[in-house]
Amino acid sequence: MSFPTTTHALSLSRVTGLCIEDPEDEKANLALILDRYKGSITSLPKEKGWLTESLYMYQGHWFPSNNLISIGTVMASQEVFQANPTDIYLVTPPKSGTTWLKALAFAILNRKRYTNISTHPLLIFNPQDCLPYIENEILRNKPTYMDANSTRLFATHMPYTSLPQFILDSRCRLVYMCRNPKDVLVFMFHFVNKLRDKSLDRITLEEAFEMFSKGITPCGPYWDHVKGYHAASVKHPTQVLFLPYENMKMDTANNVRRLADFLGYPFTVEEEAKGAVQEIVSLCSFKNLTDANRHGNIREGLPKEAFFREGKVGDWSKHLTNEMSQILDGITKEKFNGLDISF
Ligand code: A3P
Repeated sequence: MSFPTTTHALSLSRVTGLCIEDPEDEKANLALILDRYKGSITSLPKEKGWLTESLYMYQGHWFPSNNLISIGTVMASQEVFQANPTDIYLVTPPKSGTTWLKALAFAILNRKRYTNISTHPLLIFNPQDCLPYIENEILRNKPTYMDANSTRLFATHMPYTSLPQFILDSRCRLVYMCRNPKDVLVFMFHFVNKLRDKSLDRITLEEAFEMFSKGITPCGPYWDHVKGYHAASVKHPTQVLFLPYENMKMDTANNVRRLADFLGYPFTVEEEAKGAVQEIVSLCSFKNLTDANRHGNIREGLPKEAFFREGKVGDWSKHLTNEMSQILDGITKEKFNGLDISF
């Protein structure tokens, strides 16, 4: 696939229908929020962080100290975020296929707008920039979506029990992607060491393993995050779609159909005949998105390429020792005992 050379023909706000705020304003608002919740935050249990200096334990999960997705923005969104019943939320524990899920959902919902794949926004903008996180909504001065009547597509890393009550009450649809914790750990380890603040020490694999197995990860314990949404999907199957990364990898086309049905944008017979499903699968393939994201940064300032590594199931075996693997398998077995969750 060839990639459009000009980034000026499409502006991010036109493509996404989002009001794009100045990142500096967002940073200033983040500082205000952290200051507002300082009193509640400082008394919480604290551990060393991955990307940020610390993680704080809040409502049974660990949240970063001062990121755009952080303890302060989670607390603030719980207080003020207002859902629409037509909203769709893409939920992932960090580093579990968020970028891919964002790309797939964006491509499915917008397929009638972008019929010419060779100039598709996903070949210009990183999927991370194409739809916002709930946690960041609070940092904006204007509402995110310019068209109040459009289906709003948000992402979030929040555990089920921490979701703003408005989302739970309004019965919006949630898509949950998770993945084998061993692959998550390996990606987290690489991602963090690439992007960790230079003033902080490198995290060794042994340290990363230790923190991960104790459940001390952003929005972790990983297993509890998965269990929360799995239980919700069993209880509310029409509201929560539980979609492991491995399943999506194994049969992408059929899972794209399933995702489109769930989102309320099913493929028509005519679209099927024209190969629309395969077109989205190829557009969002690991190779295609990796090629399209070799240069530049996302709005937050992180390099686009940092969101892509191997894109394979089971790459953990090249990095973790047998002992690490066995320990993590043991935790997974114990935590998911009696549940129909497998990767
Ligand atoms: P690997 O470490 O296996 O390469 P997140 O987006 O939540 O940060 O998840 C990152 C993981 O998703 C990385 O996994 C990354 O390579 C993989 N990934 C990103 N885009 C993908 C795509 N289009 N298809 C499959 N995997 C993808």
